[in-house]
Amino acid sequence: MTTLITKTAGDSIPGPAPLLGRLPLLLRFAFHPLETLEDLRRRYGSMVRLGFGKYPAVVVFDPEYNRQVLRDPDSFYAYEIDLVPLKFPENSSVRAVTTGMPLMNGPRHDDHRSALLPYFHRKFVTRYHDACVEVTLRRTAAWKMDAVLDMRAEMERLAMWLGTVPVLGLDPEKEGEAIGRQLERTMKTLFNPFALLFPYDIPGLPFHALMKHAAEMERVVREVIARKKAEGLNDSDILSVLIQMHEEDPARMSEEELIGHTTTMFRGGYNPNGMALYWTIFLLSQHPAALQKVLDELDQAMGGKDPTPEAVEKLPWLEGAIRETMRLFPAGTWTGRLAMRDFELGGHPLPKGTWIVMSPYVVHRTAEIFPEPYRFKPERWLTEYHSAYEFMPFSAGPRYCIGTSLGMMQLKIALAILLQRFSFMLQPGARVDCTGLNSIRPKNGLPMLVRERDGVPAPVPFKGNIHKMVQFD
Ligand code: HEM
Repeated sequence: MTTLITKTAGDSIPGPAPLLGRLPLLLRFAFHPLETLEDLRRRYGSMVRLGFGKYPAVVVFDPEYNRQVLRDPDSFYAYEIDLVPLKFPENSSVRAVTTGMPLMNGPRHDDHRSALLPYFHRKFVTRYHDACVEVTLRRTAAWKMDAVLDMRAEMERLAMWLGTVPVLGLDPEKEGEAIGRQLERTMKTLFNPFALLFPYDIPGLPFHALMKHAAEMERVVREVIARKKAEGLNDSDILSVLIQMHEEDPARMSEEELIGHTTTMFRGGYNPNGMALYWTIFLLSQHPAALQKVLDELDQAMGGKDPTPEAVEKLPWLEGAIRETMRLFPAGTWTGRLAMRDFELGGHPLPKGTWIVMSPYVVHRTAEIFPEPYRFKPERWLTEYHSAYEFMPFSAGPRYCIGTSLGMMQLKIALAILLQRFSFMLQPGARVDCTGLNSIRPKNGLPMLVRERDGVPAPVPFKGNIHKMVQFD
């Protein structure tokens, strides 16, 4: 398809000057992505023109623009490895382990997604309820009381365990953790900008480390696949379903795709779940009135017992606290799509090849949509309605997160158990500084004092750049 729109298209969109404005901005974005995005909206409004030369880009902060882009995945592709300037070597492990559904497009993506969709249906995923309860109890059984635990590390591990049963059908302690750790090593090198800037497989360079970790990752996944095949397949975990799809028709799902789906599905699940777990616990610990409401609700629904599938369906305060956490700390603070055709947005004609960046983080902080946007207010979810393009922690449109029901169920079960059993208090004197290019994590962990449940602890004063993101007083 030829590009009909000229290079100057989009000139009417406000934005910083091409070189002197955009280069420093890019640099600032690399270190302070969220402040940069919020500043862009403050200075230029809901659509900002960016990009360089043959990579035009616009950043949009309006739910209506989100809707126009996200509801049309045929015209606006997700990041696909073949669409970015850097090319990973053909048939390399790094290609295999990154070839999952989030990075696929077109009919092949739609086919794989619709084949897997039934296994993520709300009714289907309740079969993992008991495993979630068991895993949460097992993971917390060894916790020492009246001790400080790094809740970031604890919740990341719990999330990894929670994801192991539905996605891999393996024992979390014996196998899930080993796979997860290798996955994290690989991802850390994948997100190292120097690995991507200098893509040379020479010992000592970060790209070499990436190739090495990805090869090990592929080996581990192949081993798991071989063992599962030897043990006999069923439809009780996603990996078994994927293996059967590949075996039935390798042209429909290649071996590379099978490996990629396995890694991206596992990490795609545990990574955002971990963040939602520790941020919800932390935010509730600093908001005693909201915590009291959540605890009253849990006591009334469960009376100290483990949650049942019916009970987790009716927890509006807990669900409000989770949603409010995801509003303030969405797992993906920004996301992008690539225009596969000329298009128009906000009355501006734009060419094929334009990147469109959307930011749930910024839209979630729009006062006209969410009154008092910087405050943690779980109660807003009891009365306020927000469209899928205003509140989008799971993205929106036909490609919204396939694991939404599973993720929400895992979060509610784990939090119902943790909050009923334990009290959490930030370690006095701790700083909470956040970091992350596309997500928000506590840079130096989240040290919290954990006790047997003991009323509602008073909030602990603390310092850190998190105060720029949430208003606590
Ligand atoms: C709190 C839990 C979760 C959150 C906040 C979350 C968030 C998201 C977001 C924002 C996207 C869209 C990314 C983009 O296009 O920019 C996404 C996609 C996806 N998520 Fe999740 N996710 C969660 C849990 C899960 C779980 C449990 C699984 C599977 C086990 C999963 C699997 C996927 C997959 C496969 C996609 C790609 C969908 C597609 O492209 O069609 N997620 N998720």
